Amino acid sequence: MNIQQNISLKKYNTFGISVNAKRFISIDSVYQLQQLLKIEKDIFLISGGSNMLLTKDIENLVVHIDIKGISIDRENENEVFITVNAGENWHEFVLWCVENNFGGIENLSLIPGNVGTCPIQNIGAYGVEVKDTITKVEALQIETGKLVSFASDECNFGYRNSIFKKEVKGEYIITSVSFKLTKINHQLNTSYGAIDVELASKKIKNPTLKDVSDAVIAIRKSKLPDPKEIGNSGSFFKNPVVSKAQFLKIQEEHPNIPSYVVSDEEVKIPAGWLIEQAGFKGKRFGNYGVHEKQALVLVNYGNASGLEIYQLAEKIQETIFHKFGVALEIEVNIIQ
Ligand code: EPU
Repeated sequence: MNIQQNISLKKYNTFGISVNAKRFISIDSVYQLQQLLKIEKDIFLISGGSNMLLTKDIENLVVHIDIKGISIDRENENEVFITVNAGENWHEFVLWCVENNFGGIENLSLIPGNVGTCPIQNIGAYGVEVKDTITKVEALQIETGKLVSFASDECNFGYRNSIFKKEVKGEYIITSVSFKLTKINHQLNTSYGAIDVELASKKIKNPTLKDVSDAVIAIRKSKLPDPKEIGNSGSFFKNPVVSKAQFLKIQEEHPNIPSYVVSDEEVKIPAGWLIEQAGFKGKRFGNYGVHEKQALVLVNYGNASGLEIYQLAEKIQETIFHKFGVALEIEVNIIQ
């Protein structure tokens, strides 16, 4: 086994935070992972590194999951069943599906990260969540080294949530994810306002999967920073859900507040709007700050430390709580 010493993790996390791994290993097969688990269980996993904020050097063995491969398990006239290994890049998999006319995940174009981590936070964008296409998640149990299969309904998927973030957190390493996608009669979801506007601007009336994917890519590029250029982890906070009573109280003072109805009693408020109202949008503090086009995204302009960014997040949380009485929950994993 090729365990390396003192490796910088800068290129392994989309925030571009420069911390070191005392020991580091890249794993490219389930077998290799099983062998490793026989000798070492105190590990720190890194895959696409797109949903973490590293605040210090990592003492335990850093295991980079780099297991590649996409296979079509079976298909019929209407649907295709595909298994994708954890180390495949998410966006490249989406593009491969679009090229092959496999529908269901085109709205999730350009989301950073790898396939193996997409179920953990149930990635979602523009009216689609990945849970709706996942049939199965396979994972190695760290304690026993056994491969366990989780059917979709066993994953307890919710908004930016799953069993892997809660009940079995830290117990499993996801090795592959299986999807069911459409081959004909695609259920295109263009209802999310900006997609329709983008398609209309190109005079597209009957969009293909590629048209929708291209529209999402254009919208994301116009609003969200590219981690290759400016370090970030996408939405830093979850959109908070508040009681209807609390929402109405905030709305009295801010009649233009955007919102989504969750149930008869609850309303979801965009965290980006709250952060913008509190004056943080586009604020830069030296090497780090709040993105100028989407206040939900914290950014590393260069050599910021994870701690600096975390302290900014705490300041935002305090300010929002003070101003609106709303508790913002951090969506990114803080490694401290
Ligand atoms: N808004 C502001 N100011 C801002 C940002 C947003 O006022 O700086 C307002 C917008 O005007 C709009 C509302 O907030 O009325 C919603 O904004 P947007 O459509 O950009 O979506 P979001 O709620 O901010 C969520 C996801 C994104 C996903 C988009 C599109 C979460 C935490 N974030 O953002 O996910 O791309 O919807 O579906 O649910 C991610 O998770 O990394 C991510 C980028």
